[in-house]
Amino acid sequence: MEPAERFLLDRLAYLQCAMSLLGFVLLRLWRSCYGRYVSPGSAFRVPARAAWALQELPSLAVPLWVCTVTAAERLHRAPNRILLAMFLVHYAQRSLIFPFLIRGGKPMPLYTFALAFMFCGYNGYLQSRYLSQYAVYADDWVTDPRFLVGFCLWLIGMLVNIHSDHILRNLRRPGETGYKIPRGGLFEYVTAANYFGEVVEWCGYGLASWSVQGGAFAFFTACILFTRAQQHHQWYLEKFEDYPKFRKIIIPFLF
Ligand SMILES: NC(=O)c1ccc[n+]([C@@H]2O[C@H](COP(=O)([O-])OP(=O)(O)OC[C@H]3O[C@@H](n4cnc5c(N)ncnc54)[C@H](OP(=O)(O)O)[C@@H]3O)[C@@H](O)[C@H]2O)c1
Repeated sequence: MEPAERFLLDRLAYLQCAMSLLGFVLLRLWRSCYGRYVSPGSAFRVPARAAWALQELPSLAVPLWVCTVTAAERLHRAPNRILLAMFLVHYAQRSLIFPFLIRGGKPMPLYTFALAFMFCGYNGYLQSRYLSQYAVYADDWVTDPRFLVGFCLWLIGMLVNIHSDHILRNLRRPGETGYKIPRGGLFEYVTAANYFGEVVEWCGYGLASWSVQGGAFAFFTACILFTRAQQHHQWYLEKFEDYPKFRKIIIPFLF
């Protein structure tokens, strides 16, 4: 049974890479459709706070279930614990804190909500089952440069992501729903500073975990957020005449 599940986890990671490429292509063709792009006439929509809290929850609940109900034989090892904690800290913030801070967020189309919910269950299972049962690290992995650099990138990325989301949130006074030009932090350099933080965060996690599973999630995040960042950038340039032209899309000074 165990070799079969190990094989399955590798296949699920490769499938996630394929889904990333497909998502990248489809989002370039049809564009992302939640937030500012949601069509006001669409019938089935979930309020923003409920949508974010519920759709991201499987990434927290599934790993907690996996760790309590299954053998989780590798969870007593420090590298496995730390890596799983990195994943859980992000999703505790994303599903239990972030939704309740949203100001004037647009309702989420039902199908976007459903896709995000399924992805979070899928990825929650993939990362947590791999780390708790199968990932084998040397005792000194936590002092390996790949782990140390990856951990620092994860931490810096998460702080940039949270700080940038904070800047976006504070563009609106309570009750407002419109859009303004973001200023401060990494928004001085890129349009999508929050996405830049998120991509750096999961690249750091992928590096620290040194696994197909961690790398697949980093790749997925980059593919999805690069396309949405590009869409945001174009939208700002069209909406605001005084939008700073020197700002890059998502990577400071580069792209
Ligand atoms: N790992 C992944 O694959 C993944 C995928 C998607 C998102 N995420 C993360 O989830 C978080 C939210 O993503 P998102 O796509 O909703 O981000 P977003 O489009 O930048 O919007 C974030 C929030 O800020 C508001 N906002 C954005 N720009 C604004 C402006 N110029 N003026 C006023 N308010 C503004 C939005 O309101 P409206 O709702 O009214 O637009 C929304 O409530 C981010 O941290 C992102 O990194 C991760």
